[in-house]
Amino acid sequence: MSEHSADDFPCVRPIPPRERLPDGALRLCAPAKINLNLLVGPLGEDGFHPLDSYVCKITLYDSIDLFTDGGSEITLTCRGMDCGSDENNLALRAARELSAAVGKQTGARIVLDKRIPPGMGLAGGSSDAAAVLAGLNDLWGIGLAPGELAKIGVQLGSDVPLFLTDGAVRMRGRGERITPARIHDFYAILYLPDFTCATPEVYRRFDTQPRRVRRNQLPAELLASSPPSVWREMLVNDLATAAGALCPPLAEVRGLLREAAGIPVCETGSGSAMFMLCDDRREGRRVLATLPEKLARRCVAAAMHPW
Ligand code: C5P
Repeated sequence: MSEHSADDFPCVRPIPPRERLPDGALRLCAPAKINLNLLVGPLGEDGFHPLDSYVCKITLYDSIDLFTDGGSEITLTCRGMDCGSDENNLALRAARELSAAVGKQTGARIVLDKRIPPGMGLAGGSSDAAAVLAGLNDLWGIGLAPGELAKIGVQLGSDVPLFLTDGAVRMRGRGERITPARIHDFYAILYLPDFTCATPEVYRRFDTQPRRVRRNQLPAELLASSPPSVWREMLVNDLATAAGALCPPLAEVRGLLREAAGIPVCETGSGSAMFMLCDDRREGRRVLATLPEKLARRCVAAAMHPW
């Protein structure tokens, strides 16, 4: 399948969710996510903040090949972008945690083709971890239920459980309370800056800011039944001010994008990626065409992920 769609709107197209390759690998698609309306409560005793957010997977993806025909070791090969150290890699840690949880000394070779930039609130690492948990659960014949995988997953990262449920979700708690949600189709123009935001630091900065009045989540029915042009002005991200204070260029770029495109610009998670939601390809094309070249070249168009 080609990376981009055939018409002149350069929207990333996903690979199938899972596919057996002729070389015996199980190839998994690990999609990125964006947060729609991220509400954050005060720091809890567990060291985490209670969240309430709709989360959509989008067609930007990492690709993961799993091989279980080798020895008893678990190894990782990373391609594409720099994945940092192996010890911090969530795909590798997920495989080790699963192996430890079921007490099986079982090998796997993980080949990760990284396309989702890390440190931008797109949860590529968490998505990789979820894909590895689900994939090895099958390949190793463990048979854990999705809820049990999510319990292992949330220890690796708050965003892991949402990737163990198909489609868009509403996420609450630290990230462990997941319910399916329906979101109207959209296209997202992602802006991927040349800097990242460290999640723990953004939360620490959030804690120093004046407490906000607790807001209610947007009605599920509105997001399900109407295109984004009806509700995108209402989207908030409670971490945006803290992220902007830590990374001053963030607010500047948001202003430039908003001015050029004429539609709201949102951060995803703790940043640094931003996105503009469009109703259809026509609007997506228009937005891309109105952006100055300097901004447009850091943009990627993605659709809502079908799975
Ligand atoms: O779980 P994850 O690895 O994504 O979290 C990284 C850090 O972000 C945590 O150590 C914590 O400081 C902060 N965090 C939080 N509340 C959440 C999620 C993350 O305070 N719900």
